[in-house]
Amino acid sequence: MKALIAYYSDTGNTEKVARAISDAVDFDKDVSKISDVTDWKGYDIIFFGFPVHAHSVPQKAAQQIAKIPEGQKIVFFSTHGSLRDGILPKQAFEHALGLAAKLKVLGHFGCRGKVTEQIIDALQKSPQHKAWAEEAAGALRHPDENDLADAKAFGTQMVAKIKA
Ligand SMILES: Cc1cc2nc3c(=O)[nH]c(=O)nc-3n(C[C@H](O)[C@H](O)[C@H](O)COP(=O)(O)O)c2cc1C
Repeated sequence: MKALIAYYSDTGNTEKVARAISDAVDFDKDVSKISDVTDWKGYDIIFFGFPVHAHSVPQKAAQQIAKIPEGQKIVFFSTHGSLRDGILPKQAFEHALGLAAKLKVLGHFGCRGKVTEQIIDALQKSPQHKAWAEEAAGALRHPDENDLADAKAFGTQMVAKIKA
């Protein structure tokens, strides 16, 4: 069995989650930035991570999802400034599901990720970003130890699913 843990991460939050998930994979695996992946074929499972941008999947990540072969088993994970389990990050997951219509999505994990004050200040002014930017101030210490433990536990669940 072979897994790919691929992530897009501007400021390192999603990369931390990728590494926690990777800790749960007890067979052959590649851990890579999505921009470094040259071949999406040949994996039993792909864990695909992205930061939520504008309630959605960043364009660079969406472009890579389009390259994944039809029928591939995939698991999404994301980090976001807004509250966990809220409606805002859910929209981004739904967007990812739409992009993955030809893939077999096994699950999704999300947790909060800190946003720099400059970004919050800048984005809070635009109506499109106001809702999440207000919540994002509380994400400063994330992903924290609990988030990373949850990510690893999620990874273990997904591994059990593909071994079943
Ligand atoms: C341009 C931009 C747009 C963002 N839009 C959202 C958003 O819509 N909802 C949200 O919860 N967080 C949003 N965030 C916050 C990021 O999702 C969050 O900080 C994430 O953990 C960053 O991950 P990274 O360090 O892996 O890049 C945005 C951040 C940036 C820079």
